[in-house]
Amino acid sequence: NRMVSGRVAFFGIILLCTCSASPSLTPNLNRLAAEGLRFTDFYSTCPVCSPSRASLLTGRYQTRSGIYPGVLYPGSIGGLPLNDTTIAEVLKPLGYATAVIGKWHLGVGHNGMFLPTKQGFDHFLGIPYSHDMGPCKNLTCFPPDIKCYGLCDISNVVVPLMENEVIKQQPVNFLDLERSYSDFAANFITTSVEKKQPFFLYYPSHHTHYPQYAGIGAAGRSLRGPYGDSLLEFDTSVGHLVETLERTGVINNTLVFFTSDNVPELMRRSRGGIAGPLKCGKSTTYEGGMREPAIAYWPGTIKPGVTCEMTSTLDILPTLARLAGAELPQVMLDGVDMTDILVKQGKSKRETVMFYPVNPSEDYGLFAVRLGKYKAHFYTQGAFHSSTTPDKDCSALRKTHDPPLIFDLEADPCELYPVSEDESDIQSVLQQVKTVKEQFESSMVVQTTKNPKLDCCQEFCKRNL
Ligand SMILES: *[C@@H]1O[C@H](CO)[C@@H](O)[C@H](O)[C@H]1NC(C)=O
Ligand SMILES: *[C@@H]1O[C@H](CO)[C@@H](O)[C@H](O)[C@H]1NC(C)=O
Ligand SMILES: *[C@@H]1O[C@H](CO)[C@@H](O)[C@H](O)[C@H]1NC(C)=O
Repeated sequence: NRMVSGRVAFFGIILLCTCSASPSLTPNLNRLAAEGLRFTDFYSTCPVCSPSRASLLTGRYQTRSGIYPGVLYPGSIGGLPLNDTTIAEVLKPLGYATAVIGKWHLGVGHNGMFLPTKQGFDHFLGIPYSHDMGPCKNLTCFPPDIKCYGLCDISNVVVPLMENEVIKQQPVNFLDLERSYSDFAANFITTSVEKKQPFFLYYPSHHTHYPQYAGIGAAGRSLRGPYGDSLLEFDTSVGHLVETLERTGVINNTLVFFTSDNVPELMRRSRGGIAGPLKCGKSTTYEGGMREPAIAYWPGTIKPGVTCEMTSTLDILPTLARLAGAELPQVMLDGVDMTDILVKQGKSKRETVMFYPVNPSEDYGLFAVRLGKYKAHFYTQGAFHSSTTPDKDCSALRKTHDPPLIFDLEADPCELYPVSEDESDIQSVLQQVKTVKEQFESSMVVQTTKNPKLDCCQEFCKRNL
């Protein structure tokens, strides 16, 4: 129970994160948005899961921890390096109880060496990777017995539900999963409050990632098909969390932060979500690939409103550290503290956002840089994940842009009309972009990849069957 700026007692932190977010029927998220601060220019660091989660939890670009290219697979040998400092590890020295429920996706490794319990989390209830990373043909995704749609054939090991380091259920029962998470969360918060222990709950939901699923509370209720039902189920969990905070009396002492790790997977069509007016989607470095919904909710401390300040998942760790009064890790951080934006509608300390592709390499470096309202694309590339849209750029092969393709995101958030080279200040913008890009790239110490596709540790997820 800490005082922040001598004004507010700070009790809990809940970090909510969906998979591939998109709008639909969400009364509880709507309430957080209406009563909290909504971000219009909030970015993830990668348009796929594992790298963006590494950045979210460490405040550093994924290249610094080696979580690239693409995502970790059940058989990957690597994981988020143990010497990287997660938000949970930042808060633990202050006595926080820490838990993660849902989708980890930062590695399993030999004997589970990269599971959340090795990264500062006291508790883990969830699936260690994506819930489509195991055969799902015979699994039930909706009641009474509607089988999961499509193929989930990345691994031949059936998806486990883990509790800390042991398998609790295999295959995981999708119809009960959200309820298990919700019950766990309610119990975790209630116990922490009873013990007067501050808490950090990280809830990276599997929703709305493919294959969608939902239990009886949400199935068939959204009028938006399987995608809407799964989002509605997540939204119901958000409602339960807020009710628990109200019931335990810590609603005014808890920061709830909601965002997504990445964006709609357009190739799943109506089961993939949509990025609204933003260009393309998953696996691309266009805005539709990396700009996320985000809400900060803390009644009495964060005023309801909208901020257009440029912000990033990278900024969550420094912000929580500041609010909790924790020490920052002694490493090169890419995130900046956004407390002023939250509590006094202040300005962002962030001047740039860097866009790495799914498979960063030192040969190409950054694909794009946003500086203020301008975004400069040095390379663009479509992706299979976004290939179903009529916009050919979303499926195009890699293109080099020299000079870079520049968009004014204030006037043209859809990245439709490149700024003409004749416009008055564009040469100076170009020069500034090149300078910040060079500075950033020279500061980047790239770790060797931790995501090679080796058949390593599958036996761990079979062993306790
Ligand atoms: C973790 O250890 C590796 C290997 O010694 C080192 O290269 C890396 O910089 C360390 N990372 C951090 C965040 O200290
Ligand atoms: C699915 O069930 C069928 C019929 O019981 C069985 O033959 C098949 O092996 C199962 N497939 C998987 C991937 O479990
Ligand atoms: C939270 O603050 C509001 C507004 O000041 C107040 O009405 C409510 O009772 C407070 N709730 C708790 C649990 O303290």
